[in-house]
Amino acid sequence: MKHWIISGVIALLVLIAMTSGCLNSEGQEENQFETEETYLPADNSSNKLDQSGFQDMINPTEREGWEKHMPVIDAPDTVNKSEWFEVTVVVGKDVPHPNTPDHHIEGISIYYKEDGTKPVYKVADFTSLTVHSDSRVTLRVRVENSGTLYALSSCNIHGLWASEKRIEVEF
Ligand SMILES: [Fe+2]
Repeated sequence: MKHWIISGVIALLVLIAMTSGCLNSEGQEENQFETEETYLPADNSSNKLDQSGFQDMINPTEREGWEKHMPVIDAPDTVNKSEWFEVTVVVGKDVPHPNTPDHHIEGISIYYKEDGTKPVYKVADFTSLTVHSDSRVTLRVRVENSGTLYALSSCNIHGLWASEKRIEVEF
């Protein structure tokens, strides 16, 4: 009699688990949200970022007009670990960008990539830099390890421009 009661309870628990999606038909645990529909296979090349295409989005330094669009990074070559230092990014340092309602720098983004690490973290993102800005931003930054600062500028007509600067950290 006792054996039948235990078997009945176990059968009921298995039935509840299967109907709630916690167990698949083979009795293995599964997460109902992790299906092939929501997680693409790793080798699905059609969904990978085309890095050469991304590079093509950024104007090369030899393109006409780079003096007016290049985000120039002004920062120390060497900094102390975890100590604040000033970073200024200016677009059109030597040849000012027009910055009119019809033609202006829309934004400046700054990233820092520590050596040997991923992902690359965004440090700051300035948008809507229009007629009342000279496309210059200054901020304080601190880092733990040596790496590279990247700056992106975006002109509403002439697209994306990029530059980078090496930062060495002294311990
Ligand atoms: Fe422009």
